[in-house]
Amino acid sequence: MMTKNLLTRIAALWMLLLCAGSVTAPARAQQADRNLGIIPAPLSVTALPGEFRIVPGDDVAIVYGSDPARKEAFLFRDYLSRAYGLDVPVVSERKCRAKKTVTFTTACDISNPEGYRLTVRESGIEVCGRDAGLFYGLQSLLQMCSTATTDRERVTVPCAEIRDEPRYSYRGIMQDVGYHIYPVSFIKKQIDLLARYKMNVYHWHLTEDHGWRIEIKKYPRLTEVSAYRAQTCISNYDPELCGMDSTPYGGYYTQEEIRDIVAYAAERHVTVIPEIELPGHTLAVLAAYPELACGDDPGPFKVAETWGIYEDVFCAGKEATFRFLEDVLSEVMELFPSKYIHIGGDECPKERWKECPYCQQRIADNGLKDEFELQSYFIKRIEKFVTSRGRRIIGWDEILEGGLAPDATVMNWRDISEGIKAAQQNHDVIMAPTEYVYFDYLQGPRHAEPLAIGWGFNPTERVYAYDPTPADLTPEQQKHIIGVEAPLWTEHMDTHRKVEYMMLPRLMALAEIAWTPVEVKDSTNFLEVRLPEHLAWLDTTRTVYRVPTPIGMRDETLYGSEFTVTLKAPVKGAAIYYNFDGQEPRETDYLYEKPIRLIVPPGEKREIRAIVITPSGKRSISTTTVFVNGPKPVENPEDK
Ligand code: ACM
Ligand code: ZN
Repeated sequence: MMTKNLLTRIAALWMLLLCAGSVTAPARAQQADRNLGIIPAPLSVTALPGEFRIVPGDDVAIVYGSDPARKEAFLFRDYLSRAYGLDVPVVSERKCRAKKTVTFTTACDISNPEGYRLTVRESGIEVCGRDAGLFYGLQSLLQMCSTATTDRERVTVPCAEIRDEPRYSYRGIMQDVGYHIYPVSFIKKQIDLLARYKMNVYHWHLTEDHGWRIEIKKYPRLTEVSAYRAQTCISNYDPELCGMDSTPYGGYYTQEEIRDIVAYAAERHVTVIPEIELPGHTLAVLAAYPELACGDDPGPFKVAETWGIYEDVFCAGKEATFRFLEDVLSEVMELFPSKYIHIGGDECPKERWKECPYCQQRIADNGLKDEFELQSYFIKRIEKFVTSRGRRIIGWDEILEGGLAPDATVMNWRDISEGIKAAQQNHDVIMAPTEYVYFDYLQGPRHAEPLAIGWGFNPTERVYAYDPTPADLTPEQQKHIIGVEAPLWTEHMDTHRKVEYMMLPRLMALAEIAWTPVEVKDSTNFLEVRLPEHLAWLDTTRTVYRVPTPIGMRDETLYGSEFTVTLKAPVKGAAIYYNFDGQEPRETDYLYEKPIRLIVPPGEKREIRAIVITPSGKRSISTTTVFVNGPKPVENPEDK
């Protein structure tokens, strides 16, 4: 039997080996980053010797080569002033006499309007791009400044030549504001983030069973009635858990606010694509205009309060439905100049259409086979209207069912086989599959995370590993994959802070898969070198984000007698605290300063739990690794 004394001595020795606690952390060697801190990683980076510096008193100017480049020149000046207190003049190329220059020019031979070239030499910087490319070149320069500069007195940028252009032309997120709605200032903050990461689409899901969020002048009841619900389901799809909050909820965006947002986004090379759901997910409309539902004298209906899919949808047999939608879409197209208009098309139950004399008459009159072909009739008719106005439709992948107009673009949200099918039928496709890029899915263990949809699990690493172009397509068909988008469905994102948490840091991974060719992607460089720098920046911006757990540790059980646990902070400047006592780790525990040595006696187990606390005080969830000096259990294949 082991005595208490012996136990104490073993524990003391063990602690000595593990934690030998010095108080200050050794300076971590600066890791060379071949992508120079830029997210998304550029197409090509050639490092050159030396660095460009601006220190107070330097004879330096920001130069614009032509009028269209003035905007980027002034944005850079504002950055230098805000971040470093430097007052650097902006001058036209003709008037420039300064020794050092930072030049923005549109006069270049770059064919891709989103491409740019960024050259940094000791004597000056030149950013060159024809259109959005110039703006993206500026974004890269800003990121290089903030990751390479270590003090706030001078700007330091390593010399290099960067040539860059995106892999895909469509790089977006989808923000659902039907389930929950967020302030205009938040929408603008999201657009700022998109622009910083060279994303170019804000797909704005404006209508749902649970709320209509866009002012339509011709139909005032949409904002008087459809924009409000009496209460909201507070929990998950599990009916046992689904209580109500008993609080009226709602709101909408005025046309003036929408114009302001569209213009704000355009300034940043982000296109806002509106989505008006049809023929399903339309219960909120029917609450205000019940005559648009199936049958004679339908309703009454109320704006949805619990999550799910509703059987009451637009009647496909009544002409009034199409008059309403054409009126609405006309106002929508006035507000949004985007090439694409998203018309939804997902999850439309056919129950009501089966029983409706008007829908059945439509089927008979048009020689349609069934209700799926009726859905196809519906979509094609709307598509014809939208294309008659010089626009194109995007719809969720159900729009393929029953046949689809050739010009329609398919947004693949279900299994990627749907996207493959669409590309094989020569439709353009945007990949947004639940399995990889649904940002309403969990980022960590369900018990430790804020409420999310079910058990779906799309952590940053998984998003990063996803290649949106399916290998099963021929090279010709692959050209139909025009981009990738991450939907933010908001049943469980009742505050904008929760949206931020669910979006970040996955947005950075999404940006890289949307922009950077597969051959250039590098998950270690992304997760361990660049992302920690970007999260350190984010940490200073009063933005909520999910703090990743310590790099080098996972929730797992390891078997053996000796271990060395080497950890790294996932946010530059953050601290890692750990303990052995099974409590939730906190600042009172050991501060990680060097690799932890662990020698586990035979037949025993130890446990390390760790968290990350960032400079602004944000905390990660805890991670637990169990170390067992004993036989590993044989896996039972039936447990899998
Ligand atoms: C969807 O998630 N229903 C497009
Ligand atoms: Zn009907």
